[in-house]
Amino acid sequence: MTSYLNTAINAAREAGDLQKRRYCTDFMINHKGETDLVTEVDLASEELIVKSIRANHPGHDILAEENDYAALCSGFTWIIDPLDGTTNYAHGIPWFCVSIALEIENVVTVGVIYHPMMEQLFTVIRGEGAFLNGERLGVSSRSPLRQSLLATGFPYDRAVDQDNNFDHFFKFQLGARAVRRFGAAALDLAYVATGRLDGFWESKLKPWDLAAGVLLVEEAGGTVTGYAGEPYDIRDGRILASNGRIHAEMLETLNDRATYSLLRNSEN
Ligand code: IPD
Ligand code: CA
Ligand code: CA
Repeated sequence: MTSYLNTAINAAREAGDLQKRRYCTDFMINHKGETDLVTEVDLASEELIVKSIRANHPGHDILAEENDYAALCSGFTWIIDPLDGTTNYAHGIPWFCVSIALEIENVVTVGVIYHPMMEQLFTVIRGEGAFLNGERLGVSSRSPLRQSLLATGFPYDRAVDQDNNFDHFFKFQLGARAVRRFGAAALDLAYVATGRLDGFWESKLKPWDLAAGVLLVEEAGGTVTGYAGEPYDIRDGRILASNGRIHAEMLETLNDRATYSLLRNSEN
């Protein structure tokens, strides 16, 4: 497993270094949707990462955000978000990362998240713990929810689909100490693993946003489930990750049937 981890580390560092060099320079920005951006640096990062992984493991499969790759049915799939936090990157906000995981026979086994601007390298191997720059990580022991700091995000189609997280955001803002929206889901998960954040939830995420971060939280002693408390599957975009201690309260909030508009009406 260590050699797979080293492959992921080298690829993440190469892409992260490129992102740092090109940060706040005049790179091309295109639209994938009305609010969903992709920069020249996202594409160049993916190219670097795929090239670097293929140099070591030419027979492995690749699942990455910006391109489709022919299926090789190898049982080994590298799951890659070349630049998580593209909107931040495009606006010159230094909060973004590279996320790379290796799934072996459908089990995420190795993960790396690299935050180049802070030189934070998060690494994890299933069963061997989670680390930040070589220091072992553990989730926080904070509870209850009222004293907890959470993070979340909102989908790109939030203006046209009511499944946009606004209700849940409203309820958690009332129920927790505070909720942050940093703009890079992989880093939100990595920060739950460090114990700095106590919980994170979001819907409509993709396997590349989640794979490495979920393993980091689990190996740091946290709990990761779907919104109904079911075992987590990275191909289900609805995720709840926490320090474990506030998980039941967070599930209760996610499944509370009162809606944001009802709460507002009841105040009128
Ligand atoms: C996005 C970020 C953001 C989350 C979005 C993701 P991208 O990824 O992780 O925090 O709220 O849903 O799509 O597009 O920057 O790779
Ligand atoms: Ca992403
Ligand atoms: Ca991305």
